[in-house]
Amino acid sequence: MTRNLPRGFDVQRFDTVIRHGTVATASDVMQCDVGITGGRIVALGQNLAPAQREIDARGRLVLPGGVDAHCHLDQPMPEGLKMADDFRSGTRSAACGGTTTVIPFAAQTRGESLRAAVDDYHRRADGQAMVDYAFHLIVTDPSEAVLREELPALIAEGYTSFKIYMTYDDMRLDDGQILRLLSVAREHGALAMIHAENADCIAWLTDKLEAQGHTAPGYHATSRPMAIEREATHRAITLSELSDVPILIVHVSGRDAIEQIRWAHGRGMRLYAETCPQYLFLTADDLGVDGYHGAKCVCSPPPRDRANQRVVWDGLADGLFTIVSSDHAPFSYDDPQGKKPGGQEVPFRYIPNGIPGLETRLPLLFSEGVRRGRLTLNQFVALTATNPAKLYGLHPRKGTIAIGADADIAIWDPDRQVTIRNEMLHHAVDYTPYEGMQITGWPVTTLVRGQVVWDGGEVQGRAGDGRFQACGRPDMARPKSVHEGTVGRYVLEQPDALAQLARERP
Ligand code: URP
Ligand code: ZN
Ligand code: ZN
Repeated sequence: MTRNLPRGFDVQRFDTVIRHGTVATASDVMQCDVGITGGRIVALGQNLAPAQREIDARGRLVLPGGVDAHCHLDQPMPEGLKMADDFRSGTRSAACGGTTTVIPFAAQTRGESLRAAVDDYHRRADGQAMVDYAFHLIVTDPSEAVLREELPALIAEGYTSFKIYMTYDDMRLDDGQILRLLSVAREHGALAMIHAENADCIAWLTDKLEAQGHTAPGYHATSRPMAIEREATHRAITLSELSDVPILIVHVSGRDAIEQIRWAHGRGMRLYAETCPQYLFLTADDLGVDGYHGAKCVCSPPPRDRANQRVVWDGLADGLFTIVSSDHAPFSYDDPQGKKPGGQEVPFRYIPNGIPGLETRLPLLFSEGVRRGRLTLNQFVALTATNPAKLYGLHPRKGTIAIGADADIAIWDPDRQVTIRNEMLHHAVDYTPYEGMQITGWPVTTLVRGQVVWDGGEVQGRAGDGRFQACGRPDMARPKSVHEGTVGRYVLEQPDALAQLARERP
């Protein structure tokens, strides 16, 4: 409930006070008020002085706004395809699901410069976003100019993470290209995110399936078995080891990849892992349902089975995973630019990959993770807000509730019963894969830098309220062995850069 005091009420110290709530961070749970002035958290305490706006959070949880560090919005697509969500609808949907910062991708097209991709992406975002945003880069053409000039310059300007694809013909890089990019990440303090699936194996299996007439959406999962993800994950780990720099394995789907990551952790490697709701709540069976409807759940890697869902939950509970992101990749189902290219039900290889999930990421994980006792509230906050902010150089401005942090806050009704229906969501996609799921808990107020953008019933924010956030060089990307170097000769080859790194990060 929000109460406005008359202007001129001059004993007030704060623009806003959130009162009587249970505040949780990645490490603490406390009963306190939150005082906000100038878009920042300026006080945490009992009985804070009156404010211009009072928010009563009795019986509510007051959590850091979510940081969704893997989502795709208005990303340029091959001819004939278009994402349903742009910055306007995508960030509106984020706000209504308790997310206050998104990090989508400025994707390089082969033959184009990285800088051009970033400039174009800013044009798409400018004045459109309702929540704050930063950009990852996607590097598809690591030319000498990109490796030596563009990427280092962009990292210095606040684009400190980039995604590397091992699959998709128009994006995949070979191992040599990946090693060269990882060397740039190491030298300049960026974090590389790797999509780990073996492209040649997928192509081989896809050809075989098609030759047998198996083209329905369900065969997408058959064409990308776990072995394909396992092999690529192991290879990515090896490339990370050789180049002596941490990486993040994105959208990990199940046991096989998890075993590889555990193996690397067991060897002492600094390596991060991300998973997504689709690997906790969907299975490959969802791709095989009546006729073409399975296209709604076509994403890569594909969802696996219930046993694998349990393995992913275990990895969340025991700390194997660093972050949970949505991988929101919004293609409408009944759309000639979406899941039915050209208006046709096409063989699975032509179905655009990806599912929507920006707005449902936090409620699903809260309900089935925290409410069911699989995760603590602190783990939930860490996985969905604090860790992504740290991993991408946005912490402590983002991802926590602390004095001096941006007042990016989601106030939750932990008992609200919700049946997920696409019509209640705020994205522009014509379906949700979670239609009909009954969950408990939903964010009832979302504040971005102190401004209410969602009040649980109405969207209060406007396009343009969200601001671009330059990312710092993430400390988590620091090579474990920056001083000794596991690849000693490599270290000796670049004494200046590494000495500077060591000075910046003692
Ligand atoms: O299927 C997926 N995940 N589509 C989005 C693009 C990506 O690889 O993350
Ligand atoms: Zn990917
Ligand atoms: Zn993605």
